[in-house]
Amino acid sequence: MAKPAKSSFVCQACGATSTRWSGKCVACNEWNTIAEEANLAAVPGSGMTRALKGRAVALETLDVRTEEAPRIPTGIAELDRVTGGGIVPGSAILIGGEPGIGKSTLLLQLAASLANAGRSAVYFSGEEAAAQVRLRAERLGLTKSPVLLAAETNLTNIIATLEAGRRPDLVVIDSIQTLWADALDAAPGTVSQVRAATQSLIRFAKQSGSALLLVGHVTKDGQIAGPKVVEHMVDTVLYFEGDSGHPYRILRAVKNRFGASDEIGVFEMVGHGLAEVANPSELFLGDRDATAPGAAVFAGIEGTRPLLVEIQALVAPSKLGSPRRAAVGFDQNRLSMILAVLAARCGVSFAEHDVFLNVAGGLRITEPAADLVAAAALLSSFSGISLPMDEVYAGEISLSGAVRPAAHMTTRLREAQKLGFKRAIVPAAGELEVKSLKLKLTRISHLKALAEALGPCE
Ligand code: TYD
Ligand code: MG
Repeated sequence: MAKPAKSSFVCQACGATSTRWSGKCVACNEWNTIAEEANLAAVPGSGMTRALKGRAVALETLDVRTEEAPRIPTGIAELDRVTGGGIVPGSAILIGGEPGIGKSTLLLQLAASLANAGRSAVYFSGEEAAAQVRLRAERLGLTKSPVLLAAETNLTNIIATLEAGRRPDLVVIDSIQTLWADALDAAPGTVSQVRAATQSLIRFAKQSGSALLLVGHVTKDGQIAGPKVVEHMVDTVLYFEGDSGHPYRILRAVKNRFGASDEIGVFEMVGHGLAEVANPSELFLGDRDATAPGAAVFAGIEGTRPLLVEIQALVAPSKLGSPRRAAVGFDQNRLSMILAVLAARCGVSFAEHDVFLNVAGGLRITEPAADLVAAAALLSSFSGISLPMDEVYAGEISLSGAVRPAAHMTTRLREAQKLGFKRAIVPAAGELEVKSLKLKLTRISHLKALAEALGPCE
């Protein structure tokens, strides 16, 4: 019988195994995903192990009452909101974001906030020297807070340090891509290093009850770099997003085992760090120009929080064979779909026009309920008719041109009312607590109604 090989080559994207390395995985066609892995002791039942006797574990029922996970309030309300009420001890949080967006700043502020509240927080910086982190602390006015700091990238040293001292409540690793384990013969940032480092740190966190916060780099298409398995291993994945041209930063939960996964926290980068923004609607509406056509206000919702934001459109005659369609903060495919529906169902063709759509303040909208407001902004820019300043929109558009209801309509409209809006264009279908609303509602069932009111005169 042939001896089992010492190692095999495993695709980090799909898990396919092969006996040789190759640049491209034959199973999933991904490039550069094959990594050599030492063969673990063969799986029980495969016939390759000696029959080891397992230990029977106690089985439980589902109705055993468990305590609500205890939480450490962070002292930063926006962060508490995103994590679902504070950080859970023993949990692991991965926070991703583009370089320079403010990850290190946020985590230093978090560590300081916990340390000031009498908890122990340890900050391992793999990217910056201790002096650089201290400089940032100076800028943030946090030099007096008892955060423990080390510039270290060796995983074994980090684990040893953590095990030696008092059990920390919070461990920050900035960033996971800089760590390396001596045992592995691969460069820092490679799939196997990132995975091994994450695994060891999570094991430490689970055993000690320390909360773990990992910074993750993102690739050029916005994903957290390294193996997808890291996102599966941690309890919570947060993305820190924003536009470098704007001071606003959005912390978005995309996975959360201990809370809602669609919450956002809003921050503003100021001279002394990240400031919380408690009422983001006021901020994203900004200074509005009453006379300019092409702007419309969306009554949106992010997680549990209603959020009003201005959408701007520009429709300009094009000399190009295939006119430009560009969207900032809005899904490009949804823009194409709305343009197609306007052309096919409402007779408004943009075939000879360049179309630009922008979400004010650097926010990114992912809700389908923003279809109607985008259509309104496009039609307004096309026809040159400005929309009333005190009007909001919400509703999804289907391919037939029907306007479909969006979730939490009443909450959206209540927020609009609170901010002084007087009118709303909403879908005809769907429940609405009309009694509690003083807004003048126009309920439409088809996009045609909007196109007729705003459509360019033929
Ligand atoms: P940083 O936290 O280093 O980003 P990351 O760790 O995500 O790469 O933030 C860097 C940017 O933030 C930098 O361009 C300067 C800016 N900044 C401020 O505007 N005010 C501040 O108080 C701080 C600390 C940084
Ligand atoms: Mg950083």
